[in-house]
Amino acid sequence: MDNLDTLVAQATADFAAAVEPAKLEEAKARYLGKEGALTVLLKGLGKLPPEEKKSAGAAINIAKQAVEAALAARREALRLAQLEAQLAAEALDVTLPGRGQTRGALHPVTRSLERIEQLFRSIGFEVADGPEIEGDWHNFTALNTPEKHPARSMHDTFYLLDAQGRVQEDVLLRTHTSPVQIRYMQAHVAQYGHLDAMPEIRVIAPGRVYRVDSDATHSPMFHQVEGLWVGENVSFADLKGVIGDFLRRFFESDDLKVRFRPSFFPFTEPSAEIDVAFMSGPLEGRWLEIAGCGMVHPNVLRFGGIDPEKYTGFAFGMGPDRLTMLRYGINDLRLFFEGDLRFLSQFR
Ligand code: PHE
Repeated sequence: MDNLDTLVAQATADFAAAVEPAKLEEAKARYLGKEGALTVLLKGLGKLPPEEKKSAGAAINIAKQAVEAALAARREALRLAQLEAQLAAEALDVTLPGRGQTRGALHPVTRSLERIEQLFRSIGFEVADGPEIEGDWHNFTALNTPEKHPARSMHDTFYLLDAQGRVQEDVLLRTHTSPVQIRYMQAHVAQYGHLDAMPEIRVIAPGRVYRVDSDATHSPMFHQVEGLWVGENVSFADLKGVIGDFLRRFFESDDLKVRFRPSFFPFTEPSAEIDVAFMSGPLEGRWLEIAGCGMVHPNVLRFGGIDPEKYTGFAFGMGPDRLTMLRYGINDLRLFFEGDLRFLSQFR
């Protein structure tokens, strides 16, 4: 029986020496395989005298069970070791800094436009828009801009080409948002039919406009916000009130002055430029032009389908790009349209 104990001890030691599954299976074959030591012993039972068979068989079986148990234990140990090695290899260092998700942000001009819309909505204005590719009639004629007006020249306006590459004199990129005045008045009249039944028109129209122009303060594409208020007894005083109130709210400051400087636009009479000056800060005391405005010319009301004997209105066209530059202290308009993330990411 000592032999069997030795055998079991030997097998256990062999299993322990096997550091990988393949070696363990080789060791197993030496004891439990077809030619394995225990298998040979079991086969040899037949040759024993009957009186020894029983006890020898029992002893061999006990040894066999011990070897099998040692094998199973070693298999499990190797499996766990393998798993642990794998986990260690794939381990994440949770203390490393993350890659980070950069936050997107609205373009500073978009922010201003949203702010402008919100402020005008709060005093009862609707927000409308119109096409950027306009016809000559909406962009000029209906705005009382005569045939020979310089704004109609190729120097100032982008005209579209036809399929043969010829300039289409009637199709252009709108040079201002004022054509929306005409479109909105016409739609309003069409909707409400009889003029007396018409509620006041109070609308702003933000959008992109295009002119042949490019330097630090001019871009061939820029933004405007058109404003229009038409009703009974709408006056220049209303215009001054609306604009002054808007600017104070937009810049969140009472520390500014607003000036209406006489000017000329074909579609307003009288007309003015709106200047603003801050009473403190880096731009202190400097007058900056931010909009054109005036009382809507009777011809323009007529083109819009509205009786100028009965209704009056004011209109303005302001530059939200300029307002954004003032609000954030930006000195080059082109930064808005270059898409440089070093600039844009400062507005996150
Ligand atoms: N459309 C004018 C411009 O682009 C601005 C303006 C709008 C002036 C409305 C008066 C009234 O310069």
